[in-house]
Amino acid sequence: MRIPEQKVEEIYNAVDIVEVVSDYLPLKKRGGNYWALSPFANEKTPSFAVSPAKGIYKDFSTGKGGNAVNFLMEMEGYTYPEALRHLAKKYGIELEEAEESEEEKVGRDKRQSLFIVNEFASKWFHQQLLESEEGRKIGLSYFKERGILQKTIEDFQLGYAPDSWEAFTEAAVAQKHNPEFLTDLGLSGTSEKSGKLYDRFRGRVMFPITNHTGKVVGFGGRVLTSEKQMAKYINSSESAVYNKSQILYGLYHARQHVRNEDQCILTEGYMDTIVLHQNGIQNVVASSGTALTPEQIRLIRRFTKNVLMIYDGDAAGVKAAMRGIDLLLEEGMNAQVLVLPDNHDPDSYIGEHGSAAFREFARAEAKSFLDFKLDNLSQQLDVSDPAQQAELIRAISDTLARLPDMLKRQLFVKNTAERLDISEELMARAVHEAMQSLGKQQRREAQRQQRFDPKPEAEVKPLRAFETLDLARQEKELLRILLNHHDKSFELHPTENLEEVENIRLIDFFMDELEGLPFENTVYENLKEEIFKVYRQNETLQLHQYLSHPDPAITSLTADLLSLAEVPSENWRKRGVMVPPIDHDLSRAVQSAMYHYQRRKVGKLLDELQEKMKVMKEEEEDELFEMFMYLTKMRKEVAEKLGIVVEK
Ligand code: CTP
Ligand code: MN
Repeated sequence: MRIPEQKVEEIYNAVDIVEVVSDYLPLKKRGGNYWALSPFANEKTPSFAVSPAKGIYKDFSTGKGGNAVNFLMEMEGYTYPEALRHLAKKYGIELEEAEESEEEKVGRDKRQSLFIVNEFASKWFHQQLLESEEGRKIGLSYFKERGILQKTIEDFQLGYAPDSWEAFTEAAVAQKHNPEFLTDLGLSGTSEKSGKLYDRFRGRVMFPITNHTGKVVGFGGRVLTSEKQMAKYINSSESAVYNKSQILYGLYHARQHVRNEDQCILTEGYMDTIVLHQNGIQNVVASSGTALTPEQIRLIRRFTKNVLMIYDGDAAGVKAAMRGIDLLLEEGMNAQVLVLPDNHDPDSYIGEHGSAAFREFARAEAKSFLDFKLDNLSQQLDVSDPAQQAELIRAISDTLARLPDMLKRQLFVKNTAERLDISEELMARAVHEAMQSLGKQQRREAQRQQRFDPKPEAEVKPLRAFETLDLARQEKELLRILLNHHDKSFELHPTENLEEVENIRLIDFFMDELEGLPFENTVYENLKEEIFKVYRQNETLQLHQYLSHPDPAITSLTADLLSLAEVPSENWRKRGVMVPPIDHDLSRAVQSAMYHYQRRKVGKLLDELQEKMKVMKEEEEDELFEMFMYLTKMRKEVAEKLGIVVEK
């Protein structure tokens, strides 16, 4: 059932955020705002603030914030309509709700049901482990043998799936859980012969996998025998609630610690995560055997920028570490690597040497990504041979080329040059070359993807591709569009009124939309501002001006931007160029690029603001709150526009 618009408005008008929050927390007034200890963190000084004037709360210890509805969603785990209903009840507003569309209902119901089924399964396996004879004799004694304590079993809700073809499925069906959901989640399979359901997890200890909010999304089940023909682990299938590449095992338990320690330790396995946790090292997650993905890294980035990867010292481990480094750097993270000796994983290392020794080893042996790479390569290569030294320089350059932050990149170039005892200029040139070939490689990759995935409506993909560029590259693409198409006009649909169409000149659109959002890259920013300035003065742009500009940085940038100007849309697609085909649908391409950029930029500004708010003085509160409100509003608007432009 949907709540009608005017009712929503009525609720929002009635709400007093101080009242709502006071139902949960004792608020104390200080200045214009109210303060309390954060309900989301364990703390001694209040960092949870409510601004009655603005109707928002802000939790500086976790970065959470929003209006009364968001607060209830966070606090009670309500969905949006549930929170509204709660408020309607509190303020005596009667709701006759509009019908929810059938599709909405099915989608929502399904995800919710899947969570419920997983929750049931998790409880059931846990209960089997602790209470059934088979579970205790086989599962529990296995965990005990491996040194897992009762508390850890509770914390991680470890379980046992009995060695039976139907025990779980029957229990689930008896509790009226929909068989279709059981197979969707990969808890049950369907027999080809009889069509009957059977248990997929049999005779295994069970590790429930939760998302970062603690909801069970799937399971890993480990065999207890060493029979070679049995897979060591079976995992839940991907489903509407479980996407492997977006989940990190243990993040729910680790996130507070990751934030406090400002570091996330990344291991490979379920057991490693659990055992480290049990030994007081709690900022730990596992990629669960899959190669680390950008989505997982972004998940970590919400809590920290520092990742320590732990691998065993065999060839596969080193390779995984190298790949992890590159991915982490590409996402703007700081990467360290710890290689354990003798093919140990953290669990086995602690088993053999104890947790104090582990801590000491990690403290002494964790290496920066650069040391790790340099050490590894110098072991393999003989640097007195020029050919091999060149190979080493190239390999390091390939990694440094991935650092999106120009300043950091240059500092590492300097550092590396010193250590390799070569000139900084040479190193810088090698990195520059690596950046170019990386760009080519990424285009080829895009092209390959296109071939594998020749969707008829291929536009959607390139639009996403722009979205995945880092900020500086997005800025560059925007400049390219501006330089090449500044004088064209296109139709703009103002979001408030979809019927009305405004015809707007591209450069005017850019000036409107980029107001107050300076480019990060100063060369791009200078060029953009200069273009705007000239346009303001005489309405026409002379591009040759920029090709013979006194600032050589601007000259070469302009040349670069204009040289890739007119790529016909077919070619464009084949070459995997990142920007949408301008001549294909100018309106949509330009708007999509702009809004994607704004979303990224506003997100970054919000992150920075949040850092500032953590240490703000009382007299800064109002200004920063104002800024916070402005940016959150902008973020919402941009999301809406993106929804209209891209999804339509
Ligand atoms: N994994 C998997 N499927 C497999 C093997 C491994 O999903 N067939 C994943 C699991 O998440 C596992 C991780 O990869 O935790 C690491 O694998 P491995 O090192 O083989 O296992 P451990 O976790 O160390 O398990 P144990 O210590 O019990 O041998
Ligand atoms: Mn292990």
